Amino acid sequence: MSIESLRDYLPIAEKHGLMKRVTAEVDKDWEIGAVIREIYDNITPENRYGVYFENVKGSQFPFVVGIVGPTREAASLVLEAPQDKLMEKMLNAFEHPIDPVIVAEGPCQENVLTGDQVDLHLFPFPTYSAGRDGGNYIIPGCIISKDPETGIRNSAVYRSQIIGKNKLTFGAGRVKGAYAHYAKQEAKGEGLDIAISIGVDPVIWFVGPGLFEHGLDELSIAGGLRGKPVELVKCKTVDLEVPANAEIVIEGVVLPKERGPEGPFGEAAGYMEGVLPDRPVVEIKCITYRNNAICQGNVAQKPPNEAENAGSLLNEALLFRKLTKGIGLRGIVDLAKLRGAGMGHLVIKVKKLPPGQNKRILNAAWVCDTLAKFISVVDEDIDIRNTAQVLWALAYRCQPHRDIQIVEDAPQIQDPSTGTFGWRPSNGSKILIDATMKFDYPDVAVPAPEYMEKVKNDWAKYGLPLTTVLADVHKPLEVEVQAPTSTPIN
Ligand SMILES: Cc1cc2nc3c(=O)[nH]c(=O)nc-3n(C[C@H](O)[C@H](O)[C@H](O)COP(=O)(O)O)c2cc1C
Repeated sequence: MSIESLRDYLPIAEKHGLMKRVTAEVDKDWEIGAVIREIYDNITPENRYGVYFENVKGSQFPFVVGIVGPTREAASLVLEAPQDKLMEKMLNAFEHPIDPVIVAEGPCQENVLTGDQVDLHLFPFPTYSAGRDGGNYIIPGCIISKDPETGIRNSAVYRSQIIGKNKLTFGAGRVKGAYAHYAKQEAKGEGLDIAISIGVDPVIWFVGPGLFEHGLDELSIAGGLRGKPVELVKCKTVDLEVPANAEIVIEGVVLPKERGPEGPFGEAAGYMEGVLPDRPVVEIKCITYRNNAICQGNVAQKPPNEAENAGSLLNEALLFRKLTKGIGLRGIVDLAKLRGAGMGHLVIKVKKLPPGQNKRILNAAWVCDTLAKFISVVDEDIDIRNTAQVLWALAYRCQPHRDIQIVEDAPQIQDPSTGTFGWRPSNGSKILIDATMKFDYPDVAVPAPEYMEKVKNDWAKYGLPLTTVLADVHKPLEVEVQAPTSTPIN
């Protein structure tokens, strides 16, 4: 049986050491974000974990972070595929989406709050960068709206600041899917129905930040990844459907012609974004939630952070598809954002190609990926998800005068080095690095493969602890889900 909900996934994550519980009482207004910062600052990437805060001061609900962000092992568990098959799985889901289905009822509506009962403060939505953020934020896996003209659903991840017991800011940027829906409604003097689902099947979280063309229902990609349709239920007060297994659903209307300030907010690129004066405002009509609901968030702040993993994984596959299938570039084996650099450093693994081809790939990549500022191509033997290996390639396979190209006057987002910081593109530049071997190189200075293979096979006899990276090599993927799936883990 495969994963269908956050509750299905949590025990799997715990079993793999990817989720730890905190029983001590914590304060959502400052403590949660600081605890997570300490983890990201001090624990190596392959050993990071998410945290389940069982006891949040002033709330009956627990709070969980780090579902979609801690490690690549977590991504492999969520997507139910070995780490070296994740790209293949995502590409396959793009080709074979499965539309969601509507079911009569779902646990997300076990409890319903309407009218005066609606109070966002009942739930432990934290202040992530305490002392700096403007307030408490909801960073959900799935905000749903529909195009008023076509009726096609959009599911995405946007932040919302809580500005009253029944009021939120609407975080979609002006070029985003839900904002386009809102603009159409506002032009008619009407509001836009939205539904914010928190604590969804983590696979829905992964597709939320996907830079898909507008007009595609992202939930069909989530279905494609799961190999079965996402089950939806009709909302109580707005004309939308939401994942039936969500933990909490906030139904509301983005009001026409109403704007208010939002922020500051500690962004995933690593710096504070100032107050945005003109955010649309959402009025909440209803909140529904499961019994023993689990509240979920996602930590942005300075990289390394959860948001860069959550935001990169699926977009890497989309970029791969764009460069290979869309533009038709040959020789690209794989690509990934270098974790810890936010979205700013893209590494592309290439086959040995005729002269000039690497330059074509590098130039196409910066045009297609406006978030990356450093773009490097490396040889097939480099593990592009291992920062040390990428740095080694940059150090010894590249001569700056010959292998580096600077592109001037290129749009750059969220980069204070341009002189401004925010989501609107400012004038920046890109650095394109060909870090592939251009000559016959000496053998790499490691034991020959036959000796390494032997040691790996006999590892147990040394009695030495395995790092997660090594464990991944040896451990079969376990994604068995215990029935019944709806049993709360607390
Ligand atoms: C943790 C996280 C938070 C995000 N917050 C926002 C946000 O507040 N506003 C926004 O426009 N995009 C945000 N994004 C990026 C969008 O999710 C992404 O651009 C997505 O493709 C938008 O989908 P759409 O094109 O269907 O609107 C966020 C991404 C992540 C991973």
